[in-house]
Amino acid sequence: MTTYIGTSTSRVDGHAKVTGGAKYAGEFNMPGLAYAAVVTSTIASGRIARIDTSAALRVKGVLDVFTHENRPKMAAKFDAYKDDVAPEEGKPFRPLYDDKIMFSDQPIALVVAEEWEIARFAASLVRVEYKKEKSATDLHAQRNKAFTVENPVKPRGKADKAYAAAGVRHEADYFIPTEFHNPMELYASTAIWEGGGKLTVHDKTQGVQNVQHYLCAIFSMKPDDLRVMSPFMGGGFGSGLRPQYQAVLAVLAARALERSVRLVLTRQQMYGLGHRPASIEHVALGAKQDGTLDAVIHEAIAATSQYEDFFRNDTGWSGLLYKSPNAKYMHRLVRLDEPTPCDMRAPGATTGVYGLECAMDELAVALKLDPLELRLRCYSDRNQNEDKPYTSKQLRECYRHGAQAFGWDARNPEPRSTRDGSELVGWGMASGVWDAWQVDNSVRIVLTANGHAEVSSAFSDIGTGTHTIVAQVAADVLGLPLDSVTVKLADSTLPQAPVEGGSWTAASISTAIARTAEAVRKELLRLARKLPNSPLASAKLEDTALRDGKIVDKRAPDKAVLIADAMRQGGVDRVERENNANFKEIKSHSHNTHSAVFAEVKIDEEIGVIRVTRVVSAVAAGRILNTKTAHSQIMGAVVGGIGMALHEEALVDHAFGRVMNADIAEYHVPVNADIHDIKVIFVDEPDDIINPLGIKGVGEIGIVGVAAAVANAVYHATGKRVRDLPITLDKLLR
Ligand code: MOS
Repeated sequence: MTTYIGTSTSRVDGHAKVTGGAKYAGEFNMPGLAYAAVVTSTIASGRIARIDTSAALRVKGVLDVFTHENRPKMAAKFDAYKDDVAPEEGKPFRPLYDDKIMFSDQPIALVVAEEWEIARFAASLVRVEYKKEKSATDLHAQRNKAFTVENPVKPRGKADKAYAAAGVRHEADYFIPTEFHNPMELYASTAIWEGGGKLTVHDKTQGVQNVQHYLCAIFSMKPDDLRVMSPFMGGGFGSGLRPQYQAVLAVLAARALERSVRLVLTRQQMYGLGHRPASIEHVALGAKQDGTLDAVIHEAIAATSQYEDFFRNDTGWSGLLYKSPNAKYMHRLVRLDEPTPCDMRAPGATTGVYGLECAMDELAVALKLDPLELRLRCYSDRNQNEDKPYTSKQLRECYRHGAQAFGWDARNPEPRSTRDGSELVGWGMASGVWDAWQVDNSVRIVLTANGHAEVSSAFSDIGTGTHTIVAQVAADVLGLPLDSVTVKLADSTLPQAPVEGGSWTAASISTAIARTAEAVRKELLRLARKLPNSPLASAKLEDTALRDGKIVDKRAPDKAVLIADAMRQGGVDRVERENNANFKEIKSHSHNTHSAVFAEVKIDEEIGVIRVTRVVSAVAAGRILNTKTAHSQIMGAVVGGIGMALHEEALVDHAFGRVMNADIAEYHVPVNADIHDIKVIFVDEPDDIINPLGIKGVGEIGIVGVAAAVANAVYHATGKRVRDLPITLDKLLR
């Protein structure tokens, strides 16, 4: 029996967020707070020959200036800087460690002052001389230097041979430029000096315990002396998965000065950190004339830094999504003088599936087949990469519902065939796929006799709605009204949880809540059985439930004991339990979420302006816990996908190795005027294998396939295929 799961529940933290009650990392004030500002390098490669901080130090109100020459002691070994989500291979970045410059806008000095304005002004007075080396930041120019990394997804058959022999072939490169997350909230840390060497750090992060371990390793601190909190986040999209350097610098300064220190990076400085790496997706598809695939070859060539090998699964989705006896994947990396890339919403899939889904559209054209029909002919009920069935896969239903809502049947296959006044109209579609992961975590529930529950876990809510779904699930399994549940998240002192990312939080934490609630119920049943003439004397745990402040026998609901009576019987006023959800790998089945995205574009024929007038996204992601927040997740992700297709691009001046458009005036993202009708559909997808509640997660699936659907619609409208993102009007007109 559920009351809240599956409903359109408004965010429990919505009021706090819109009234300013919710405090973000850079908003905590306390007496004696000092302010820090970072000086970043103006070259991309080389060494610091001389750094002169004397002018900055002379400014009234400046407390200190830290550089690699005078910084306090930090761990020397790279291992100390390796966090939970660091790339396996490489040596993590150590801020202010030495004179070596590995990327433009690398932090090289930290100014701390009584006021933020003073710190920023003094930072401008730090003089630096460099020994500059030639830098490389252009993926295309360095492509021939790529090295191969081990791809976890195994090939099958003989893809090269099958491709060569295929009746119809399509092969092309698709390019995705460097993209930055650009969350609304800047990277920020406030390190509060608690005295006695203890610190509380309010950090903009998706993983408080990850940051805590990381900072403790760097500064040789005891976990009990360093608490990390991040109760609210103004957008993450993956940017807060790894601890960022501002947390290190804020802690460094707070320890040195024995004062609380706040460090908020500027918007420009946000472009000197992790990002979606530029990648070239090389896709080759060989098919029979009937529209079945014989060969899928997908090679990704992506950028990484000079010091770490960052990569994700770009290619393995290709032979997973479509049936083909032969498939081959390669992933190659190119070292550039840039910071290590990091995860950005649906990392790997967003880029890899963009290439695949545009290639499928081009193959459909070559086969003279409707693009949706081609996908149905290649539909795969099994994961052929691993030769397994799925826990559930309702992609076919996504195609059906999405096409119907969009009106796909009415599509004239001929490019440039449809007009609306001066605009060419194009319709395109694409599929999306993502993983449905689950990760170990713990949840604590404290249920008090007055019918209130507190549910806590170190997981973050990165804006996805975790606060709300935790309250919903807890309310249902504890049989309480929603407003009787308090949720505590994103505090390193709370029960163990990994970073929030990968779309794994909803399934993981909900399972832990259900298990912990069962432990609470078990204890309540034990107490209730002791009541004289207890109606639950012979009730089995699995036959009981918590409902409306009572523990009831589900088979005979009149047999019930008030929770308050049970507690009174036991002489307690609260029951507290903490349980783990430890997930065994589901070896027998694959677990994925899917989507079908349909897009309409209208393009001014004379000047090439593209408007995405309609998008329908039909998603299969197991049980939807909250139709409102899940809808928002998909809608926001579609907006991100439109940005990827038409706007987003970090423009690097390769002579200097610097991002030229390092602000959101010139790094374009969609604004309200760019966004029109977005329809989100969740298809039914019962799944009793993945976890008892059938949850798969919706954070990332919404962006996968969107850019391809838009690009394919642009081709349909204009007859012009633009494979390099973003599709700007100059590319259409030339
Ligand atoms: Mo997501 S890119 O795992 O925050």
